Amino acid sequence: MTTVSVSDRPAHDLKADALVLGTVAGERSAALAAGHGLPREAESHLVAQLAALHATGKAEEVVTVAAVPGVAAGRVVLTGLGSAADGTAFGDEVLRRAAGAAVRSLKNAAKVVVALPAEGVAGVAAVAEGAALGAYRYAGVRGPKKDPKGAKAGGDAVSTVTVVTSDAKVKAVKAAATRAAVLADAKAYARDLVNTPPNLLFPQSFADSVKARSSAGKAKVTVKVLDEKALEKGGFGGIVGVGQGSVRPPRIVTLTWAPAKASHSVALVGKGITFDSGGLCIKPPASMLSMKSDMAGAAAVAATVFAAAELGLPVAVTGYLCLAENMPSGSAQRPGDVVTMRNGTTVEVIDTDAEGRMVLGDGICLAGESAPDAIVDIATLTGAQMVALGARVAGIMANDDAFRDRVRAAADTAGEAAWPMPLPEDLRPQLESSVADLSHKGERWGGMLTAGLFLGEFVTEGTPWAHVDIAGPSFNEGSPWGYTPKGATGFGVGTLLSLVEGYAG
Ligand code: BES
Ligand code: MN
Ligand code: ZN
Repeated sequence: MTTVSVSDRPAHDLKADALVLGTVAGERSAALAAGHGLPREAESHLVAQLAALHATGKAEEVVTVAAVPGVAAGRVVLTGLGSAADGTAFGDEVLRRAAGAAVRSLKNAAKVVVALPAEGVAGVAAVAEGAALGAYRYAGVRGPKKDPKGAKAGGDAVSTVTVVTSDAKVKAVKAAATRAAVLADAKAYARDLVNTPPNLLFPQSFADSVKARSSAGKAKVTVKVLDEKALEKGGFGGIVGVGQGSVRPPRIVTLTWAPAKASHSVALVGKGITFDSGGLCIKPPASMLSMKSDMAGAAAVAATVFAAAELGLPVAVTGYLCLAENMPSGSAQRPGDVVTMRNGTTVEVIDTDAEGRMVLGDGICLAGESAPDAIVDIATLTGAQMVALGARVAGIMANDDAFRDRVRAAADTAGEAAWPMPLPEDLRPQLESSVADLSHKGERWGGMLTAGLFLGEFVTEGTPWAHVDIAGPSFNEGSPWGYTPKGATGFGVGTLLSLVEGYAG
């Protein structure tokens, strides 16, 4: 876990491997962002370096200068902030990304000081979050002989972040640093789960990981696991059907954070397909390669419950992880099968690759049985989400416009891009079946919306519910950017945590 603290000492006096400063787009080349407080000698050195390097100060630009006179840190990393409209402060997400890009660029640096022009508690929080998130490295699966210092267990990752701010003694600022560390650690956990290869992460090993994290943590998170027998007995026909083609049986894991003084309760349901081959409706190889990430929703839910507990939020949070492996085999589900879901609804399976909604339907039923104040499900549900919104923006659907807006506002606060999507009643007839209560799939067009409409069928009447489709933003197949690494992004943890915090106030 990366430690995050705040300091009001001059940035150049702090001993560290690297000092991160901001640059802005100047007239000729990049200029140093305000508020660095450097001695004249250090400032002129850096200004000359920026000009000589033709730095622009644009977002995502990171320039490193070593051995700057008058600076205690061995390196100064200059990260682009772009240009803020005259007199306005830099936005939280600009700061978050700039801090992230800088820390992400570091090699062989353990201790980092960050001095960016952040204003207010939210600004400092954003810098701290970006820096801590940028410190993430996936250790991978390495043999004992390979590069023991570097690659192993993220060996060279930044371990300490100090954010320089004149408000370092303000209580809310110190709390923001703590929260940033908890959030980054939670996102790192979600990222690690998603990055873990699918031969190593399967329903039971996912459950084991959650149990281990619960035992290791100080905060009390209760973990319960429903195994395949319990699922069959409990009438969870959706997840049993999806899981029956795999030799590694399905699980529903519930994680509960139940503080004594909670005035509200939130249920979070995550799609946890540890590998989505498509089942008998098998995917082509290129589409299958990234399908270890099809449990990113469940990973975000698990990470959020732990984070809520670590922060001691006075809100009851229960996570439901719907874990299954979608595989083709002699025992696999067939197109045409009819299964009975947890709430008694029968569903005709049309396409075994539309498995996420089957496991989530059961999970949403289970969540509703505890009558929470609200339910949010989060899932890598449809390719249609990516067609509609691309790889960086999640789709939010809901049975209640005010609740949908509330989830979107939480996403905004967290710097996670998301956009409202409708659940058109006009598409509902597509889910009619001639042999069962429901068909689980509509037409191709609007596939994100019919998937959402299907899920809505399992929500208890009167409970506010939102569905977040993260097929695109959960996994970065391109190059890293800002605080987002290649591979798993941890998308959703910020949104869910901010949403839960909103119930605490
Ligand atoms: N896990 C996929 C959706 C997905 C696609 C996530 C790409 C991330 C990247 C989901 O289970 C799926 O296969 N959906 C199908 C549904 C269809 C068969 C109705 C899809 O979107 O093609
Ligand atoms: Mn699928
Ligand atoms: Zn899937």
